[in-house]
Amino acid sequence: MSGHPLVSLSGITKSFGAVRSLRGVDLRLDVGEVLGLVGDNGAGKSTLMKVLSGALEHDGGEIRIDGEPRRFTSPADARRDRIGIVYQDLSLCDTLDVASNLFLGREPRRGPFIDRAEMHRKAAETLAELHVRVRSTYQEIGELSGGQRQAVAIARAVSFQPRVLILDEPTAALAVAEVRQTLRMIREVAAKGVGVILITHRLQDLFEVCDRITVMYEGRSVEDRSSASLDIETLVSLITRSNLEPDPAPDADQEDRA
Ligand SMILES: Nc1ncnc2c1ncn2[C@@H]1O[C@H](COP(=O)(O)OP(=O)(O)O)[C@@H](O)[C@H]1O
Ligand SMILES: [Mg+2]
Repeated sequence: MSGHPLVSLSGITKSFGAVRSLRGVDLRLDVGEVLGLVGDNGAGKSTLMKVLSGALEHDGGEIRIDGEPRRFTSPADARRDRIGIVYQDLSLCDTLDVASNLFLGREPRRGPFIDRAEMHRKAAETLAELHVRVRSTYQEIGELSGGQRQAVAIARAVSFQPRVLILDEPTAALAVAEVRQTLRMIREVAAKGVGVILITHRLQDLFEVCDRITVMYEGRSVEDRSSASLDIETLVSLITRSNLEPDPAPDADQEDRA
């Protein structure tokens, strides 16, 4: 154990041709902490998380995990450091059942065959640990509600025993009751010592689960505050930077001419 943060990103830059998506981002994540990552569309949140999870390589800056410098060239690299990510599209296979989705690519085997009984037993165990209810682990993913699919995707990521779990807009397509379940899962995962990074536009959710909030604006990190020191109004002004740049007075004449 060390006094280092679990994750420390400093001065991360990333361009796609002429588009400078990340212009110098700092971010810190501690063990067992839920960090909210917010910013307007295009601020660079997803790009930053793809860098941290190995889907994209950064151009400049430094990634440290437990104080050790890292450069991930593939998601497998990041997985070795036990960094997991759940994207909004969930990357589940609709035509397979719940257990197969949980263990896709690493099914328990007996000789050359998938040990289905063992796979379903382990699937039920994994879901029970996270208090996820599905009728049966034999149900096809396509039959589940949005919230259940979300829960299975998170359970799959958790079953890799991540130290860092990134959720990119997990609640964007969910009904209210389903959002509650996702937030509860996030708290449970963090309580086990996992550092969770949550990206969401639902700012009210952040205040329920996050210890700290990092705000990005046009490819930069511009704020890092404890959520207790923030309220929604302040957060909105930090995201839009309306505290710094007053909205230009509406000028109908000029708009008509434009
Ligand atoms: N693969 C890509 N190629 C070109 N531009 C990209 C690519 N991915 C992201 N961008 C650009 O990078 C910027 C940040 O995007 P993104 O990280 O998706 O923002 P956010 O998740 O905060 O909405 C945007 O201007 C986006 O168009
Ligand atoms: Mg995004």
